[in-house]
Amino acid sequence: MNEVIKIFGPNRLKGDIRVSGSKNALLPIIAASTLVDEVRLQNVPNITDCYFMLSIFRELGGNFTWLDNQTLGLGFSKAKSDTLLLPYVTAVRASILFVPAILFAFDHCKIFLPGGDSFSPRPVNYHMAIFEEFGFKCSLSKNYLSINRSRRTPNRVTINLPFASVGATQQAILMATFFRVNTEIFNAAFEPEILDLMKFIKSLGVKFQVLFSRKLIRVFPAKRSKPRKSHIFKVQGDRIEFITWCILGALCGDLVRVTGYPVKWLKRPLEVIHETGARIKVESKDTVLVKTQGRIKRVSVECKPYPEFPTDAQPLLAVLATQCDGNSTITDTVFPSRFSHCEELKKMGAQITVKGNSLTVKGPTKLLGASVLSHDIRASASLIVAGIIAEGETTVDGIHHLKRGYEKFDEKLRSLGANIFTMEQEVDHFC
Ligand code: EPU
Repeated sequence: MNEVIKIFGPNRLKGDIRVSGSKNALLPIIAASTLVDEVRLQNVPNITDCYFMLSIFRELGGNFTWLDNQTLGLGFSKAKSDTLLLPYVTAVRASILFVPAILFAFDHCKIFLPGGDSFSPRPVNYHMAIFEEFGFKCSLSKNYLSINRSRRTPNRVTINLPFASVGATQQAILMATFFRVNTEIFNAAFEPEILDLMKFIKSLGVKFQVLFSRKLIRVFPAKRSKPRKSHIFKVQGDRIEFITWCILGALCGDLVRVTGYPVKWLKRPLEVIHETGARIKVESKDTVLVKTQGRIKRVSVECKPYPEFPTDAQPLLAVLATQCDGNSTITDTVFPSRFSHCEELKKMGAQITVKGNSLTVKGPTKLLGASVLSHDIRASASLIVAGIIAEGETTVDGIHHLKRGYEKFDEKLRSLGANIFTMEQEVDHFC
């Protein structure tokens, strides 16, 4: 049997929705929990990627307990293995953030190449360059990465990132913290999930200087070896989930109140949704009201690192563009081939042309229910959103991807009035 999501559309949505804890903030924080003896994490989403990271954490010698359905207690003393050749490692990209804990304990490490969504090539060369700056030599084979100490870690480290990479910025922060080296990260990424990691690490005595205008982060690690015990940390809300509900509100919201994320960190995405003509009202510092406004104006958007429009919301914006008046263009400068959702949306009637790293979406187009297959987390969400506004029955397969990053997505949609169900479907076997 295989789980699929069925939607009977079109639906109008109304009501209040609160975002869950952020996947992309949580995963690095689980890796950073190897820095403390004990930590209690609150606002933890129940998503598969969290379970994968916890399995790796346990394999390294850590322990964890669910204290309630959103609170995790984690304990760690020292990495017990220098090798991470587990299937979970290839399932999540953030698994590479466990390397600093292993290198700190053993001075060498062998790890499967990290996985995650495979919508674009996702090399690890920036991570390797960081390990090398800290005195290690890396060698890459087809499936794994070996890292060995080649010289002493210098007293100061300077990292120059070729691109403002989220994972590489987190990696540099973790290496600096473990090896207690003052570190400068030029061309750093500033996604709010990185700020959450810094907030977590800051409570361990590490100091940061964040120079946003110079794209520079300076890390001044604590001098003592082990930070205090019984640390409590609340993971921030999910930024991309917040944008997902806002886009749904713009498409078919009678009035959707979205809450649980600082609106000040959503300036560009809310501006884009507002430019389409949707009514958006900021009700408080973490709540907005969104309502559709009939005719939707076309968009021209470039997805770039924060504070620009995020690549993770690009597939959702593509669905919004199918309902815009005229030709919309969306360019993804972060992941130039993150377009698996487009072929599926075309099965529903969308008129999309992909050229290089850009999409042209002709609208408005009436979408019709169809059987579609999702290939990654955000593609799953976008196909479900398309199913909500489409006429008739839509079946979305491949929803294990959705569960990697979204908590109770169908349940939350039902609470807004959507006709959406998760069902078991028999798998066809061909001989
Ligand atoms: N890059 C390299 N070499 C590297 C690292 C990155 O060339 O060693 C390139 C990538 O190929 C990409 C660009 O740099 O073209 C940016 O990638 P980045 O490193 O920023 O992405 P990431 O850290 O692998 C995180 C999120 C992604 C999100 C991106 C961009 C996590 C666990 N993942 O990935 O989230 O799309 O940042 O914001 O935090 C998702 O949630 O659906 C998701 C894929």
